Amino acid sequence: MTTATTWWQEAVVYQVYVRSFADADGDGVGDLPGITSRLPYLRDLGVDALWITPFYTSPQKDHGYDVADYRDVDPLFGTLADADELIDRAHELGLRVIVDLVPNHTSDQHAWFQAALAAGPGSSERARYLFREGKGRAGAKPPNNWDSIFGGPAWTRLDDGSWYLHLFDSTQPDLDWRNPEVGDMFEGVLRFWLERGVDGFRVDVAHGLYKEASLRDQDRSSLSATPTGSMVERVLRDEPMWEQPEVHDVYRRWRRVLEEYGDGETERIGVAEAWTQTAESMAEFVRPDELHQAFNFGWLGTDWSAREFAKVVNGSIAALATADASPPTWVLSNHDVIRHPTRYGGGAAGLARARAATLVMLALPGSAYLYQGEELGLEQVDVPPEARQDPSWFRTGEPGRDGCRVPLPWSGDAPPYGFGPGDGQPWIPQPDDWSGITVAAQEDDEGSTLAFYRRVLAARTRWVRGTDLDCVAEARRHLLFVRRGDVTVVLNAGQRSVALPAGEVLVSSGPVTDRLPANTAVWLR
Ligand code: NOJ
Repeated sequence: MTTATTWWQEAVVYQVYVRSFADADGDGVGDLPGITSRLPYLRDLGVDALWITPFYTSPQKDHGYDVADYRDVDPLFGTLADADELIDRAHELGLRVIVDLVPNHTSDQHAWFQAALAAGPGSSERARYLFREGKGRAGAKPPNNWDSIFGGPAWTRLDDGSWYLHLFDSTQPDLDWRNPEVGDMFEGVLRFWLERGVDGFRVDVAHGLYKEASLRDQDRSSLSATPTGSMVERVLRDEPMWEQPEVHDVYRRWRRVLEEYGDGETERIGVAEAWTQTAESMAEFVRPDELHQAFNFGWLGTDWSAREFAKVVNGSIAALATADASPPTWVLSNHDVIRHPTRYGGGAAGLARARAATLVMLALPGSAYLYQGEELGLEQVDVPPEARQDPSWFRTGEPGRDGCRVPLPWSGDAPPYGFGPGDGQPWIPQPDDWSGITVAAQEDDEGSTLAFYRRVLAARTRWVRGTDLDCVAEARRHLLFVRRGDVTVVLNAGQRSVALPAGEVLVSSGPVTDRLPANTAVWLR
């Protein structure tokens, strides 16, 4: 099996949602010193890198994805010196650090947007964003029919009558990437963090920076289209706000900047968060002169099914092969989606399935992303309405994403379970029944989900290294088989146990005998 040439091609990256990982100062919100204090935990878990969600100056309307100053740390999370300390300490422990870059929009508190408000219509300050006149009598209707991802119209009107575009919350105005000042600003931001030693950037909304220049209406009749994984007869949604061809030149420029700062073991990387409609267009973001990785979100929307899993695995690998692109990435959970044990039905069966899916994922070629708390088997929490904080909850009344963002339980019998000092509930309240699943409670239990993650990460290093795409998934009724070199992964997604195929068991997601129980996966050699 080919050995990876650089670190990132097969890295396991652990996503730290900064507000909810570890709280050193006891204000109920996680922070950078909290992360630093828990780095040995991540090293012992066996991951290669951490990606930290935005910790820059921000009014926190979208919990950091609304940046007011890209070159400073929000006091809620610490200081620039704390960031330096975190990066240095991680490197000492052999962990790489990926930070989040939010280039599609700024906060409305960013100096540029404040200047745009003050300068008025037609000014060069407004030309950094997408201000337009409205339609209809007295321009009272939005310039086009686009919706915000968080619900409601994507346009907000100012007192002076002009409208500005925000594909997310109204406090997150979209930048106009057709204005060269914007590209220059972000090149400066990249260099600022590269010089501080970060190993890469996760690029927020990477498919969104350019909008179709006319800002025409979206053809809504296409919205019910479900893109299929096949290249033929595909019906795509009409999306003039996403995936414009010009965006790729941004990443070509960034690639050149990243290459100035290192290569091989010191290579700095970019990871696209691009919710593209197809695996093929995802692959375009990772052509050899663009970003290094793109999240492969296919699995997030896939049901518990051997057949569906096989489609995701084979479809992703095939799409990347056609674009001469980087090795694949894989992910089952993140801070924007329902945690995978809950997606797979919740309770004991949901957890068993989640572990089995994780065991399949970690056998695949390329790189994998883990989301904090999945190694504890955390489920989505039903956060009570009065405690919800997601901007989409305020715009739509839908529960939103708070349930996957509940602060981690580290130890103890009651909230905050060692998340921070003190005994108060953190920024999103934790459930009362988490004492059995804290890190401390799972630490010495061989059957725990934490022990399982440690085992499988160690087994991955030993048995399935490399990025060779010669890996085929095959579904036979409810069984999924994935072959990689000497290792065969078998997943039982059915209702009953089956005879365990022949071979030495290297690692399993749950107890196995000569039978492979339902909701269980195993690596065999
Ligand atoms: C994607 C991020 O993951 C999400 O949390 C955020 O709300 C949006 N981008 C807007 O920045």
